[in-house]
Amino acid sequence: VIGDCNPDLILRGGDLEPAFGQAERLVDGADLVVGGSAAIVACGAARLGLRTALIAGVGDDTFGRFMLDELAARGVDTRGCITVPGMPTGVSVVLAREDDRAILTARGAIGSLSAGLIDRAVLLSARHVHVASYFLQPQLQPKLAGLLREARAAGLTSSVDPNWDPSGAWDSGLRALLTDVDVFLPNEGEAMRLTGEPEAAAAARALSMSGALIVCKRGPHGALAVRGDGSAPVVAPAPVTVHAVDATGAGDCFDAGFLAGQLAGWPLERSLALANACGALSTRALGGTWAQPTMEEALALLAGLE
Ligand SMILES: Nc1ncnc2c1ncn2[C@@H]1O[C@H](COP(=O)(O)OP(=O)(O)OP(=O)(O)O)[C@@H](O)[C@H]1O
Ligand SMILES: [Mg+2]
Repeated sequence: VIGDCNPDLILRGGDLEPAFGQAERLVDGADLVVGGSAAIVACGAARLGLRTALIAGVGDDTFGRFMLDELAARGVDTRGCITVPGMPTGVSVVLAREDDRAILTARGAIGSLSAGLIDRAVLLSARHVHVASYFLQPQLQPKLAGLLREARAAGLTSSVDPNWDPSGAWDSGLRALLTDVDVFLPNEGEAMRLTGEPEAAAAARALSMSGALIVCKRGPHGALAVRGDGSAPVVAPAPVTVHAVDATGAGDCFDAGFLAGQLAGWPLERSLALANACGALSTRALGGTWAQPTMEEALALLAGLE
């Protein structure tokens, strides 16, 4: 997994609307947890039993050490993580309401990762490479297509999760990149912004013209997928049996589940079902990694639905 690695400081409960004028407000709680889409995907994949490595930029500081320790404790290989001199580790402050969240991110070392810094021995030892948070990594963007072609030539498959574009531009070469990507994993809001289409299926169809398999996450509605050959969408509802506490990182846990299914050679429908199970189960607790399921737990949820 290549991408962003930073802690999330999640503030919850109470009055979460910030008030300027030096006003102080109390919230119910704050937790520092593993954040960064790439880091959460890596932890999710490791939890599902995949041998997983993360390639990311961090700073030589408390937050960076926190992240590397947490990743190692979850079985993620961090040899490819780079300590960027003079840059702090990125951090996100998440204002988490039951139904929605606002995120303030200081990018720090996340924005410093470039193709040249990526350890090819780590990358090419994998079967699959997943790139997360495309828009947070301007230095990686220009040579990412070349890197994915290198990976493809070495027999790897690839996937990209764009996540949100804080610039609001919604391209930065991403549409062109998709011809070099096997699986693209936006959420529906991102897919609609990338295409200008008013709904998820149309957006996924438009993106599938690139030839990539488009898997579009739809929160409590589950997901839909459109194959690169433009065939009819495959719709997969989310399990309704899980009580959602916090959806932070659910999309990343979904990605890990989907990729685990695909790497096991499962049909698209079953990979989507596993992905939905992993996304839903991750919402049981705060943050992206506290409730990530093992394969056994995810399969038990699936078995209960069949
Ligand atoms: N309330 C919920 N109930 C059941 N499943 C959910 C719920 N919220 C999310 N999920 C599961 O998690 C998946 C991903 O959620 P979502 O659409 O929020 O992704 P995302 O916006 O990319 O999230 P992220 O914050 O990780 O980027 C959904 O497709 C679904 O499978
Ligand atoms: Mg996402």
